[in-house]
Amino acid sequence: MLASLKVRHFRCFETFATEFAPGLNFIVGPNARGKTSLLEAACILLRLQSPRVTRLAHVIQHERRGLVVDGFFAERHLQFYLSHERKKLALDGVEQKTARDYLEVARVVYFGNRDIELVRGTGEGRRRFLDFVAGQRAGAHRRTLRDYERALRSRNLLLKGSAPRWREIAAFDEPLVAAGTRVAEERERLLRDLQEPVQAAHAAITGSRESLRIEWLPGAGGNFPEALAAAHQDDARLRQTTVGPHRDDLALFVNGQASSYASEGQQRTLALALRLGSAHLLERHFSTPPVLLLDDIFGELDLDRRGSLLAALPAAAQKLIATTHLDWLDPASAGKVLDLA
Ligand SMILES: Nc1ncnc2c1ncn2[C@@H]1O[C@H](COP(=O)(O)OP(=O)(O)O)[C@@H](O)[C@H]1O
Ligand SMILES: [Mg+2]
Repeated sequence: MLASLKVRHFRCFETFATEFAPGLNFIVGPNARGKTSLLEAACILLRLQSPRVTRLAHVIQHERRGLVVDGFFAERHLQFYLSHERKKLALDGVEQKTARDYLEVARVVYFGNRDIELVRGTGEGRRRFLDFVAGQRAGAHRRTLRDYERALRSRNLLLKGSAPRWREIAAFDEPLVAAGTRVAEERERLLRDLQEPVQAAHAAITGSRESLRIEWLPGAGGNFPEALAAAHQDDARLRQTTVGPHRDDLALFVNGQASSYASEGQQRTLALALRLGSAHLLERHFSTPPVLLLDDIFGELDLDRRGSLLAALPAAAQKLIATTHLDWLDPASAGKVLDLA
């Protein structure tokens, strides 16, 4: 479990330090007090990634040079420094050249109040969801994804010119296809492994009244090199790489109907099931549950679903729950309360 967390020059916090308990922890306070920022700090400390922004520099307090997050997870000391120019990692006081060992320490699942975007939004959010889970299960996925993105950027840069020089562009096709094929395979494998736990999570929240199905939609069709070769005209016209795992997606169906037809409540439930299912998958894979960060998600749920969700979370997991008030909570469920009022 995450025993302690200290931040410095992190979003609205000059400095802030707190301890957490095993099991339930509530971070309570009115809007703009820093509840989400604290969950974000926990996520960055444990996974070096923010659940809300892709560019970590956004998180540095305005007018400051750099931020620090520091904490203990299961007796391991994690420290992360980030400025606009560089970053530094330390594990148990030893500076790390790569994030490999550091990221072996802990896993996280973040439930956000905008998770409905996983269902309604663009494929980018769904790819980020898959990659965040896949990269925790297998560190190699993070590295192949980086290789793919690098090759894609280079190839797209060459396509920006007015008349594409295919011989030059072809030089990037090999690394693009090599990394891209592995990225897509890992996502597809994850999706296969998620089917059962996500369906179980969905059944637990809805009381088995609705059915859920997830379909994999590969952005490179079945054969990436073939699709890439066939797309030259489109690529030239649109001046970018039009096929590949950067177009991977998944489709969700409730009771056999596409999720775009589902009600808002059903869409929220779908998003919850994806998060909850991934928490159970990670728990099974590592024989220990991830830390669960729940950001203000109980307000939108009716009483029944709140209860079902709380009961369906991995029981042994540490939970950090941000909320504006605690009146929805059953007084019997004890937990640590961190009051930011
Ligand atoms: N980089 C930053 N530097 C300084 N303040 C920031 C930065 N990013 C966000 N904030 C401020 O942090 C405050 C807390 O935000 P947030 O954690 O979202 O609050 P809550 O979740 O409690 O509503 C907001 O007032 C926001 O304007
Ligand atoms: Mg918030």
